[in-house]
Amino acid sequence: MTFGSRLPDLRIPPPGPASRALADRLRAVESRNVTHLADDWPIFWESAAGANVRDADGNVYVDLCAGFGVALLGHSHPAVSAAIADQALRLTHGMGDVHPPSIRVELLERLRDLSPWPDARAVLASTGSEAVEIALKTAQLATGHPGVLAFEGGYHGLTMGSLATTARSTFRRPFVRRLYRGVAFAPYPLAGPRGATSMTLALEFVRRALRDGAPNGDPIGAVIVEPVQGRAGARVAPAGFMAEVSALAAEAGALVIADEILTGMGRCGAMLASTRVGLKPDLVCVGKALGAGLPLSACVGRRAVMDAWPESDGEAVHTSTFLGHPLACAAALAALDRYGPESVLTRAEALGESLRTRLATRLSGVPGVGEVRGLGLLLGIELVSGDRSALPAGAAARVAVAALREGVIVLPAGDVGQVVELTPSVALTDEQADYAVEALVKAIAAPA
Ligand SMILES: Cc1ncc(COP(=O)(O)O)c(C=O)c1O
Repeated sequence: MTFGSRLPDLRIPPPGPASRALADRLRAVESRNVTHLADDWPIFWESAAGANVRDADGNVYVDLCAGFGVALLGHSHPAVSAAIADQALRLTHGMGDVHPPSIRVELLERLRDLSPWPDARAVLASTGSEAVEIALKTAQLATGHPGVLAFEGGYHGLTMGSLATTARSTFRRPFVRRLYRGVAFAPYPLAGPRGATSMTLALEFVRRALRDGAPNGDPIGAVIVEPVQGRAGARVAPAGFMAEVSALAAEAGALVIADEILTGMGRCGAMLASTRVGLKPDLVCVGKALGAGLPLSACVGRRAVMDAWPESDGEAVHTSTFLGHPLACAAALAALDRYGPESVLTRAEALGESLRTRLATRLSGVPGVGEVRGLGLLLGIELVSGDRSALPAGAAARVAVAALREGVIVLPAGDVGQVVELTPSVALTDEQADYAVEALVKAIAAPA
């Protein structure tokens, strides 16, 4: 079996000596905040293809994360790699907002075509957080209102503007005095037995915030929301919620920013997950899978909104050195040729549904397991404590370590690390998926 479609092959229990040695060297040179280094974590990646990763010790894994959702097509997709190599021989860097690389035009045309607006305009950037910054700035320019309505559990990035709208206190607390205070956080209701009640309460909050403004009194010009919450643990809102939020925002003259950085490009079975959940955005942020492995993001909106930016007179109000980087544009164009066709969307939906139902069946009645949920290839296994009185903080990290020992890479998510998050690639074969389901069941059942 070729590397990419292989089942795990562990030569040595991970992390092996080569990964451990690299961890020691990393500890000596990287800020201690960045990488969690422990006896059982992490492995150091050497190569990756399709749904496989090979570590520094030669161990082969099945990757159910696709590198934070980036490798939706699979790692090192041959067409993407060839496009990058070809572009690298011609032009690796242009002059952003001054003398643009020609390939940027082609990419912007493709983004317009996949957006809901025939007259769409976009700003390119490198990271998801930057795309969110651009969307927030755009909304303020277009409405004159700086206030933002965001949602509990929401993750929109860690730069100061985006962090102000990210709900998680771990990220906010150290910088709270620098954060913009004009953000109201509404509850994010969950589909399920209590969905209707939690949706009513959340909508009441949204209505009130749009009427009364943010906690600091600023009127609200933007509602930022993930169509399906990712880092909060694949949280899907009840049917009708997103449409209602969109209608309330429109009524109040606020713009809806769909943060599709994780959900976009087909992960949830549609090019934009907004269309699947009834969200009607004015601005869409995309990133991660857009660059298919190279850093690329974009804020896209309809012309009337994006034209709130002044015309450049030679000094762009918002730009960056690597904006529209030619290599990233080339990777994105090659990836977009593959995302577009129905086959990727259909595979994302079918594989996601099959993983979700099989995991739900196999984990039904297993102590410590709550819901298995998600949309398309954004899935979460919620872990619960015995009497459900408290969230089992850190439980998903323990599962991630146990899964690694089975040769499967997963990520912890959820407010307190209580959700095992799966964002696999469409390259995951049925055989790899079968293996991964059983490995996860075993990892979850493993003693803490
Ligand atoms: C929904 C969402 N928004 C924004 C971001 C931030 O993107 P980046 O880490 O590229 O800045 C992420 C990253 O995980 C995300 O999932």
